[in-house]
Amino acid sequence: MVNKIKAKKKKEKDLKILGAKTKFKKQVSESSRRYLRRQSKDIYSNMAQDEGYRSRAAYKLIDINKKYDFLRSGMAIADLGCAPGSWCQVLNRTLKGSNHTIVAIDKIPIDELENVNFLRGDFTKDEVYEELLNLCPNGLDVVISDIAPETTGHTNTDHIRSMALVELALDFALTTLKKDGIFLTKIFQGGEEVQLRDSMRNYFNKVAFVKPPASRKDSKEIFLIGIGFKGRG
Ligand SMILES: C[S@@+](CC[C@H](N)C(=O)[O-])C[C@H]1O[C@@H](n2cnc3c(N)ncnc32)[C@H](O)[C@@H]1O
Repeated sequence: MVNKIKAKKKKEKDLKILGAKTKFKKQVSESSRRYLRRQSKDIYSNMAQDEGYRSRAAYKLIDINKKYDFLRSGMAIADLGCAPGSWCQVLNRTLKGSNHTIVAIDKIPIDELENVNFLRGDFTKDEVYEELLNLCPNGLDVVISDIAPETTGHTNTDHIRSMALVELALDFALTTLKKDGIFLTKIFQGGEEVQLRDSMRNYFNKVAFVKPPASRKDSKEIFLIGIGFKGRG
């Protein structure tokens, strides 16, 4: 009920801004208007508000898990680039009642979430890695990464930045996953992702691209999943 009221208030606020063409012409840029128009129409944003998810990104993980059915009770999972926390919410709701462990990492803080060990920092830093190992001394069953670099709007630059982070996320997965583990990562397409998929085949039994319905069709975003980690030598 509280969520519904909040959602209604937000919608009213958005519509007010959209309608304020003349009065606030100078303050509200055309791109903000486009963003708000898109948000107010977007089925996943509305669903996230109704269902209490912190962002529409939740449905990307829900869709991918529907397709690959990889989340199991008792798993140890790292969520790289977790803020604001909707993927953690999906993990908790999907694995409810199980004794799973979630370690969620981000450079920016998140509001506390039950059953989530939040580490604030850059996932590539040694101190973050050490803390993760303290929490999961036997390694991880799943590494999921929705990490996004700060975007510039320049497709090629964003692709290169995204690939650099994805490779670091893959390194992280290769050093922390248990045998048969799973790695899921977001990528901004631009050409190099095909080489990454091919190199991931050296480490995982099955590797595939997946574009979940919740991922906007006009976005270069796609996900790459590696299933069945072959282990470290
Ligand atoms: C698209 S958001 C993730 C949304 C999240 N999956 C959710 O469902 O709420 C991407 C996040 O990656 C984080 N990020 C980017 N680079 C990072 C890094 N090197 N280490 C940790 N977090 C990082 C950003 O701070 C941002 O919060």
